[in-house]
Amino acid sequence: MSDLPPVYYNKDSDSFAFETARVRWIKIVQDTIEDINEAIKDKSQEFIEQGQSISKQLSSLKSDIQNDGEIKPFLNNSNIKAYGSYNEVLQNQNYTWLSGPWLILENYLYRLINSFFLAQPLWFNYDIFNNLKKSAFESSVDGVSELAVRYYELSSNINKLDSEALKILFTEFTEISLWGNATDLSLLATATLDDIKSIQGAEARKKSEDKILSNDLSEAWNQISQNKGRVDFVLDNTGFELYTDLIFALFLIETKLSTQVNFHTKDIPWMVSDVNIKDFYILIDELKNVEKFPLNRKEIDFFINKVEYYNNIGVLNLQTSSFWTLDKDFYEINPSEIKYGGADLYKDLLNSKLIIFKGDMNYRKLTGDRRWDPTTKFINSIGPLASQGLKILSLRTVKADVLVGLPQGVYEKITEEWGKTNDNKLSWLYSGKYAVISYSNGDN
Ligand code: F6P
Ligand code: MG
Repeated sequence: MSDLPPVYYNKDSDSFAFETARVRWIKIVQDTIEDINEAIKDKSQEFIEQGQSISKQLSSLKSDIQNDGEIKPFLNNSNIKAYGSYNEVLQNQNYTWLSGPWLILENYLYRLINSFFLAQPLWFNYDIFNNLKKSAFESSVDGVSELAVRYYELSSNINKLDSEALKILFTEFTEISLWGNATDLSLLATATLDDIKSIQGAEARKKSEDKILSNDLSEAWNQISQNKGRVDFVLDNTGFELYTDLIFALFLIETKLSTQVNFHTKDIPWMVSDVNIKDFYILIDELKNVEKFPLNRKEIDFFINKVEYYNNIGVLNLQTSSFWTLDKDFYEINPSEIKYGGADLYKDLLNSKLIIFKGDMNYRKLTGDRRWDPTTKFINSIGPLASQGLKILSLRTVKADVLVGLPQGVYEKITEEWGKTNDNKLSWLYSGKYAVISYSNGDN
């Protein structure tokens, strides 16, 4: 693999990496400082002092980033295995915040922030992003209701679906999960089962399908409809996106397309909104709150009961691995990666009939965050993953530069169109308005 294209670097002014490191990371670190200032109000002296000490470290991190400081290895005086992986990749590199490789340093940033908390006994388990996650979910109240009603109505007919209807609904629930972080729920315009085969329903789906620039979903359908069994989700964000993933999971379980669904979460607060195991329970608790979710209680309670039931009987499971919060890309989900969990995950995921990777960061890690020509085939961008038996489905709204699997000319056409109304003609790549659905059967 010596001819791999280069990765994106924070010094690349043509990449979203440039603005991310200079503007967005600063804002994220500043927000965490403010969250701590709120959290220490009226608390014990010891809690306040420890909080202030974390705040100080965060302030100096902020100025380190602003001043393009050097990236330092983690102190190896703890039993956190993940630090070893970071330290190996940082060794002899002299990376700096504003010039180094985007993917590695973005991961490093969240690990580093977490290390400040782990060092304080009264704060080690504090989720700096908790308040944000909660308030974002509470603002999705309309979407939550709509989807709960949709699922409730479908549920009474779920055993009567013929294979054509099943395929249409599989597509719909996949797309709901794909667009899970968008507020536009126009996919749900077709609210009754009778409508799903209608021209209107097809048209509504078609409309947002235009924004899906590459779509391998029919291959994933062939795989799962012919090989029913365990499905895995490598999750992305909590809140509304997790809610849509849960709806999708219920659909897979209740149509018997899947016998078991395993959700893979992050083990530390991550990329602001990513799911930790506890966020699943927080989300269920939030949904039970009738003041925050006052409408369509019957349908929301129906959803909660279903999720709790399948979780309780071991059909819907949550698990985590520190592998997901390493610097490493997913080429390392590999039998030879025996130090940091890649081989264990590989072995586990081989038992899965479909592994669904959600979101942008997971896509960046699948493709190595490299400067691929956009017409490169997905299977040619994921390294050894393409040939080792794993059935991979990536559902990704485009929020970063790396992009593959596009038909000839599409990238150029969108760039030109976008440039007519936007200063940065490439910023469509960071807008979240476009998406890709990419599949690899693992047998190339
Ligand atoms: O590209 C912008 C960005 O914020 C990245 O920094 C990060 O990779 C990603 O989006 C997070 O998005 P998602 O939650 O979809 O992984
Ligand atoms: Mg995320």
